[in-house]
This record gives sequence, structure tokens and C-alpha cells, in this order.
Amino acid sequence: MAEQAILSYLETHEEIADSGNFAAECGIDHAEIVNAIKSLHGFLYVESQDIKKETWVLTDEGKRYAAEGSPEAQLFLAVPAEGSIAKDELQKKFDPAIFKIGCSQAGKNKWVEMGRQVSRKVVQVEDKVKDLLLKIQKGQVIGQADINSLKARKLIVLQTWKGYSVRKGPSYAPQREKFATDLTRENLQSGDWKKLKFKEYNFNAKGPPSECGHLHPLNKMKDCIKRIFRMMGFEEMPTNRYVESSFWNFDALFQPQQHPARDSHDTFFLKTPSTTMQLPEDYVERVKQVHESGGYGSRGYNYEWKREEANKNLLRTHTTAISSRMLYKLAQDTKQNGFTPKKYFSIDRVFRNEAVDRTHLAEFHQIEGLICDRGLTLGHLIGVLEDFFKRLGMSNLRFKPAYNPYTEPSMEIFSYHEGFGKWVEIGNSGMFRPEMLQPMGFPEDVRVIAWGLSLERPTMILYGIDNIRDLFGHRVDLDLIKKSPLCLIGIK
Ligand code: PHE
Repeated sequence: MAEQAILSYLETHEEIADSGNFAAECGIDHAEIVNAIKSLHGFLYVESQDIKKETWVLTDEGKRYAAEGSPEAQLFLAVPAEGSIAKDELQKKFDPAIFKIGCSQAGKNKWVEMGRQVSRKVVQVEDKVKDLLLKIQKGQVIGQADINSLKARKLIVLQTWKGYSVRKGPSYAPQREKFATDLTRENLQSGDWKKLKFKEYNFNAKGPPSECGHLHPLNKMKDCIKRIFRMMGFEEMPTNRYVESSFWNFDALFQPQQHPARDSHDTFFLKTPSTTMQLPEDYVERVKQVHESGGYGSRGYNYEWKREEANKNLLRTHTTAISSRMLYKLAQDTKQNGFTPKKYFSIDRVFRNEAVDRTHLAEFHQIEGLICDRGLTLGHLIGVLEDFFKRLGMSNLRFKPAYNPYTEPSMEIFSYHEGFGKWVEIGNSGMFRPEMLQPMGFPEDVRVIAWGLSLERPTMILYGIDNIRDLFGHRVDLDLIKKSPLCLIGIK
């Protein structure tokens, strides 16, 4: 509409002298006229020149006086024509600012006699300030001295107004031609393309921002924890097997075959292939022995250990299954080449047949770390845990005695969470039992300290996520994934 108004006007007139007046005449918003001018200018339909005008406009205070009268006039009118009024009495009629200004201006103008009593000095007054303000409001011109005094009282301010004068441009036409922006299949088929005028390419235009990939908070956390482990000198264990045999997941860890965790209520067993193909036979024999009748100073569990139970395939319930494989391998290597201390870690997925709720999923990720060396003690474990968690920004730790079939002693790890205002459990740890390490073939003084935690827990704590299902699984909140910060300050 604005565009057509401009083109039509220029058809019969030399120029639009002032876009502001033009907008007012057409009854179109000036901003809209300005946009149309800019666009028409871009296509050379019109030529335009800037006009800058400075005009005086009323401040809020000015507007108020224009409507209600100046404070001095208001004050004068409140003083009785005959006699006088007590100043205190008069003051009650006004708000403090108006009263103060009214008194000083009316006094200066010699309109009133100010004392404890106030009386009129003149019969009548003219509210010149209000009249001047009304003139400015209407766009009328007033003298410089009056401008100066209104400006000094902060009743008016100078405002710059920007507009254009407009004339026909080299490509002027009374109607804007529509340019084609796309060449379509129809254009080609009908031969239209020969007649069409195409819009010029604008190589400077910025395209729409492209949606790029986003890293999942769990991946960011995983990277960060990997970095921490590497800085502490740990090697990553190969965890690329979700399917594990019960043997490595449980038996090698001295977990008795009737342990409740081995129930199908807690563990996902595989239908096909339901059993493992191969286990190291002599080691299996030593594991059977230690379960049944102990050895290495242990009394064992005194039950009949069944090979079929150990053969059952499952989805690993913890990454400690990988630790048992790696330690077995290390023990074999020790027999051949002598013992080398090791620091291992892994971060990967585990599976548990659990009821899903806001803090539990049937699959999640485990972080696991272990150190294998001669003469390690519980003190070493506490020291390493303090170092590890401090790097994650958790420096206030507490330990609570716990039970795992494969560690003795065992400790749950708690950290004080400032946000929640309480101690939250962040992991589990312990020293692997001799019943686990000795059958593998380690020298007697070799100890292993180890700990495990879920990747989800610290991620939720650090990213402030309170429902695990928003973070992982089929109901994941994509917006949350996209908006999660690239890095978290305070983690080293
Ligand atoms: N495997 C334990 C778990 O699943 C964690 C753990 C690892 C505990 C190593 C002690 C030592 O919770």
C-alpha cells in the first residue's frame, strides 16, 4: 500500500518533498513509508535524499503541565482571591514536587506573597508556560527565549526526526514489476522463463542460520571424564561387548550363583545364543573351587557350583565384567613377563532389568576405574577417589561401609550437593577380594582398588536435570539436549 501510494504520487508530481508530511497526508505510518522508499530505492524506482529535522517535543513533565497547568499557576489558583491561607494548609493540596516548584516560580513571578501565610499579589495571572507547551505540542514555532526557559526547566527536549525527499528514479514505473525469485518446472515447460524477469542474486544476503549438530550431555560428560582419567594416567579398557557370559559378569567376581542379582528379575538373559562358547578351562576350575570350598585363606560359599549357570549369556549388568576379563589377562601376562602395575578405566553401557522411573532406566552408562599394584590399601582408594571427584567439581566426600560380593572392604561414596542441600550417593567402591584375584593367578601381594558410578548421575547433577528420561531413551527432551551448555566451568 505504501509502495503504491509513493509510485502513484510520483506519476503526477515532481517529488515528495517530505516523507513525514506525505505519510500524514496518506494516513500511513511513517515507518512503513520509509521501508517502501528504501525498497523502491534499491530497485532504482526512486531516488531519495535524507532529511533531518530537529523538533522540540515535550518531556513527561512538560506533558503533565500542558494538561494540568504549570505548578505556579496551580498554586496561584489555590490561594484565595481575598485574604490569605496558611502555608501548611496550602501545602496539603499538592504533591511535594509540584508544591516546591509552584512556590519558587510563583514567588519569582511576584504572583504571591510567601510567608507563614500566603496571599495573592496580583489579581489575575496568565499561564504562559502551559500556553507555550501547548503550542509546541501542536508543532507551532515559539521564540528562542521561551525555548531556552522551557528547556532549562526540562519541560522540552530536542528530538531528531529522519525522513526522505523522493523523486522518480532511473527505473521508475507507475507500478512495481514483480520479479521471479525461482525458476520452476512449470516455467520451463510453458516457456514462461523467456519472458520472466528474475530478481538479481544478492550474494551479500545472509542465509538462514543452519541447524547444526548438537553434542549430547552424556557424550560431553563422557569426554570430560575420559580426559580426567587420562590425566591421572589411566588406560581405557575395551568395552565393545554388550553380551557377556555369567562367568565374567558374576562368577569370576566371586558372586555366588544363587545371588539375587543373578535372578532374571534383575538381569536380562539371552535366548539366542543362550550360552557362551568358550571359557578358559583351568581358570574356570579355580573359580569353581573358590566358590565351592574356598582356598587362599577363604572358606568359600559351600555350595555346588554349576557350569551351566556360568555359561548363560546375558546383557552385562556392570562394566566390572570387563574389569574381570582385563585383570585375568593381566594375571596371565604377569605369569609370563612379570608383574606390571596398571590403571584402567572404562565408560560404557550396562543393562538391568529394572522398573523404569525418574531416576532409573533399564540401560545406563557406567564409569569404572581400577588400579592394580602391590601393597595398595584403603587409604590409597580414598586418596584416589578424592582426587578423581575433585576434578569433577565434587570436593566434599564421605564414605559409608557397604557390601559387594567382589570387594572387601566396600564403600559407598557420597558428595554434599549444595543445590539439593544434602548428601547424595555418587558411587560405589572397594578393594577386590583375594577370592577374585588369587584364582586369576596374581602374586599374593597384588591388590586392586576400584570404583564405579553411573555416568547419568553426575550429568544430571551438573546439568540440573531431574528426570533421567529427559536425558536418555526414547522420550528424550531434544530441546534440552540442544540447549545444554558446551562446557561446564569448574571441572578440571
Ligand atoms: N560394579 C559396581 C556397581 O555396579 C561398582 C563397583 C565397581 C564397585 C568396582 C566396586 C568396585 O555398582
